[in-house]
Amino acid sequence: MYVLMMTASVRDRDPAIRCYPDVGQIRAACKADESRKDVKRVRRAGARGGILHDVDRDAYHTLDGHLGLVESARQGFETTYGSAPSGAWFAPGRINVIGEHTDYNDGFVLPFALDRGVAAAASLAEDGRVDLVSEQVGYESFEVEGLNGPGLRHARSAIWAATTAGMEIPGLKVYASTTVPMGAGLSSSSAFICALLMAVNDLTGRGEEAQALALTAQRAETDGVGVPIGVMDPMVSMMSQPGHALFLDCESLQFEHVPFGATTPGADTEILIVDTRTERNLLAGEYGKRRQDCRRATSALGLDSLRAASSGLLEERSEVLDEVSLRRARHVVTENARVLETVRRLREDDMAGVGRLLDDSHSSLADDFEVSSPALDLAVEVCRETGAYGARLTGAGFAGCVIGLFPSGSLPAVDAMMTKAFSARGLSQPRVFPGISGPGAGRVFD
Ligand code: GLA
Repeated sequence: MYVLMMTASVRDRDPAIRCYPDVGQIRAACKADESRKDVKRVRRAGARGGILHDVDRDAYHTLDGHLGLVESARQGFETTYGSAPSGAWFAPGRINVIGEHTDYNDGFVLPFALDRGVAAAASLAEDGRVDLVSEQVGYESFEVEGLNGPGLRHARSAIWAATTAGMEIPGLKVYASTTVPMGAGLSSSSAFICALLMAVNDLTGRGEEAQALALTAQRAETDGVGVPIGVMDPMVSMMSQPGHALFLDCESLQFEHVPFGATTPGADTEILIVDTRTERNLLAGEYGKRRQDCRRATSALGLDSLRAASSGLLEERSEVLDEVSLRRARHVVTENARVLETVRRLREDDMAGVGRLLDDSHSSLADDFEVSSPALDLAVEVCRETGAYGARLTGAGFAGCVIGLFPSGSLPAVDAMMTKAFSARGLSQPRVFPGISGPGAGRVFD
C-alpha cells in the first residue's frame, strides 16, 4: 500500500521520508490514467494564463490516479514555471462517519481522511504575487498585499489567512491538483486551503503546528470566503491517520485516533460512498440558517453552546424554545450521544451497532435538522435494501454524498441497485466508490 507510506501528519513528519519511493511506478500510473490527457491540456492553458471551464470536475480517479497526483502536480509546476518546485504538499478530503452539524455547537465528530486530496507543488517567489494553476479550476494571479476577507476566493483566502497568522510571503508559485470530487460534500475546498497553508507554512519557515494551521484554514473559509464552517474539516485533513477515524471534541480540540478497519482494503467490512451528484452551495444560506437556529436555542436556554444541553434539559425547558429550534437542538444533543456510542461500538467491533447509529443519525438529520433531500434519502434507502449495516448522509447535507457500512464485496451489487433505483426516478446516475482512509496533510516531496 503506497498510500500508507505517505508522510504522516506534520507533527511526526520525518522530512527524509518520501511517500513514493519508486517514481517510475508513479509515472507508469500516470500514463495509464486517461485523465492525464486533460492534465496536459490544462497545463498548457494554465501556462498561457487561460481560465478553464470545460474540465471534467466529476472525474473520479482510481487509486492509480491518486498515486499520480503528487507527481502530476510536481511535473505540472515544472512545465508551467520552467523550474522544479521547492516541494509538494498533500492534504486530504474527508468523510464524516457520524457527528453532523455538531462541530459548530462545540460537540463531537468522528470523521476520517480519505485517500483522495489536493496536491500543491510550490516555490516562493520574489515579486509579491501569487501565481496559481489549479488543474481543475484554472489560473489565478494576485498580489499578496491588499487581500481582505470576506468574499475572497479560496486561494486568496488561504493566502490572506496565512499572512494574518504571521507568515511573511514574498511571493508564491503554485501548481495544484485534486482527486476530491468538487462540490460533493467531501471537503474539497478545505483540502485545497490546507494544502496551500501547509506549503506556505513550510516554505516561509513559520513552523506552525498542524492544529494551529487547521484553525487558520477554518478562518480562511469563515472570514475569507465567508462560509461559516466549523472546525471539523480542516482538523481531520491535518490530523488524521490511515485506518482510523478521528474522534474529535470540537470544544477542547482534543482528539483520539480510533481504529476503523472498514476504511482499509481487505477488512471484513467496508464503507461505500454514494455520490448522488447533486450539488449544494453552502454560501446559499441553508447552512447558515441551521447555525442561527442553533444559536437561538442556545441563547433561549441560557447556555454557552448546545454542547451543554441534554435531552432532560430540552424536555424541562421546552416552553422557552420555538418548535424549530427545539428540533435543531434535539438533533445536536442526540447526535453528540450517538458519536460517543459509535466510538464505544467501534472499540467492541460491533458493526451492527454502528450501523443502527448511522441509521438513527440519518433520521435525525432528515426529520429534526431537515438537511436531507430526496436523492440522499433514496441513496440511504437503497443502501439499506442492499444489505448495509446502516447508512446516512455525510457532510452538511442538502445534496452530495451518503455513506453506507457494508460487508466487504458489496460494491457491485450496491452500484447496480443505485443505478436501477435512480434511473427509475429519472435522477442522474450516482457514483459508488469505496471510502478508503489515508494520512493527514504533510509534505510529500522535498
Ligand atoms: C460542513 C462544514 C463542517 C460541518 C458539516 C456538518 O461540511 O464544513 O464544518 O459543520 O458541514 O457536520
